[in-house]
Amino acid sequence: MSNKLEVFFKPKSIAVVGASKESQKIGHAALKNILISDYQCDLYPINPHEKTILGVPCYKKLTDVKNDIDLVLISVPAKLVPSIMHDCVKKKVKNIIIISSGFSEIGNHKLEDEIKDIIKGKNIRVLGPNTMGYKNAADGLDASFVFGTPRKGTLSLISQSGALGIGMIYLANNEFVGVSKIIGVGNKLDITDDDLIDYFRDDPDTNVIGLYIEAVKNGRAFMNSIKACDKPVLVVKAGRSSAGARATSSHTGSMAGSDNIYSAAIKQAGGIRCRDVSELFDMARALEGQPPLRGNRIGIITNGGGLGILLTDACEANGLSVPKLSKKTADKIDKIIPDLVNANNPADLVADAGFFRYESATKIMLEDPDIDGIIVASVHGGYARPREFTGAILKMVREQRLHEAHNKPILGTWVGGKEFEDLVFDLKSLIQKNFASFCPQIIHLP
Ligand code: COA
Repeated sequence: MSNKLEVFFKPKSIAVVGASKESQKIGHAALKNILISDYQCDLYPINPHEKTILGVPCYKKLTDVKNDIDLVLISVPAKLVPSIMHDCVKKKVKNIIIISSGFSEIGNHKLEDEIKDIIKGKNIRVLGPNTMGYKNAADGLDASFVFGTPRKGTLSLISQSGALGIGMIYLANNEFVGVSKIIGVGNKLDITDDDLIDYFRDDPDTNVIGLYIEAVKNGRAFMNSIKACDKPVLVVKAGRSSAGARATSSHTGSMAGSDNIYSAAIKQAGGIRCRDVSELFDMARALEGQPPLRGNRIGIITNGGGLGILLTDACEANGLSVPKLSKKTADKIDKIIPDLVNANNPADLVADAGFFRYESATKIMLEDPDIDGIIVASVHGGYARPREFTGAILKMVREQRLHEAHNKPILGTWVGGKEFEDLVFDLKSLIQKNFASFCPQIIHLP
């Protein structure tokens, strides 16, 4: 496909067909969102009855607009969509978002096929139908009808559910995860998940890609796109249970397919399947500012033996290894920990470990060529204050940027109560502001 979605996400001119003066209507909200966007483009509301809407001169039909139009948003009842599509073809529009519902998701395949026929061979890209549109936070354009402004960041989200997509915007804000683009794919008549993964792969504003899917249109293309992508691709796949699979078919008219096959295919392609949306955000936060893990050898640093063992088990269960330390590294760590313990991996810095021990041990492990990535963990042992531990990580990650200098990811993790939760909240906001570099989360012990 020669139309590579660049203009789709960065149009110079936009028309909203079905723009309305009535503030409750979707066509009103769509126009308003573009208007209040921090984005420069020509804007054309289309409505047969109005002269201006929201102060912008209005056109009776699309073909009345003399200038070129890069993107058209359609918000009229489904039965009117084919005639608007014909106008788009006449106007040589190359990008269309069909917000309207009433197509294959309710069994109206005939109408959806009609749209497909209209764009056949025309090099037109269509998002939807049955979509919320997209929010391009990186460039400041809101081409959706829904409220909510995401924080700017590097996670690009693709959602088959519009409502869940909106929920994800609010969750992302709450979790201090910054978003580059969020897009609702709806019925995926033309633009599919694989098209978007391909686009985000080359998008300099995207570091991590997250998807909520119910089904994919073309399994092979989906796998190939994930395989070709050198950025982390995180996937929440709904419809695990038979009742959930039944629900997907009435939501977007798609078949959920075998859950095991999806799991195997995502893994084989190099994607990461997430249990749920919260896990997706945790992973996105951990991955978006980190160098990729170059091997599978993990060094674990902790102030509690039990936490170290749990983390070791978790690593091994996920295909990572926790190797014994080399004599050189062990000797160095031995010098900074109390005599009552011997340095090992996991390295137990003992319950009263404070700033100095955490900082020194992490630096020693980072220098070890046999360690590919580091997990630094703290359990609220009742001696060391959580802020000492996080202070050490902040210094290494934020000021010294050691993860970049050594090209190794550093993951911070915590177990504790209120004191940790407050700290985690502060950290999330701090990290999102300027250095998304490690993953503050609370491990819930089994
Ligand atoms: N060209 C331009 N505008 C036209 C038109 C045409 N050919 N024909 C009608 N319009 C105008 C209408 O006059 C109306 O404007 P008005 O308020 O000034 O009268 C406007 O387009 C909208 O049409 P209306 O019939 O009032 O529809 P609506 O706004 O109530 O609903 C949809 C339209 C698309 C929002 C609705 O059909 C729909 O699909 N809703 C669900 C959308 C959704 O949830 N999508 C998925 C999200 S995840």
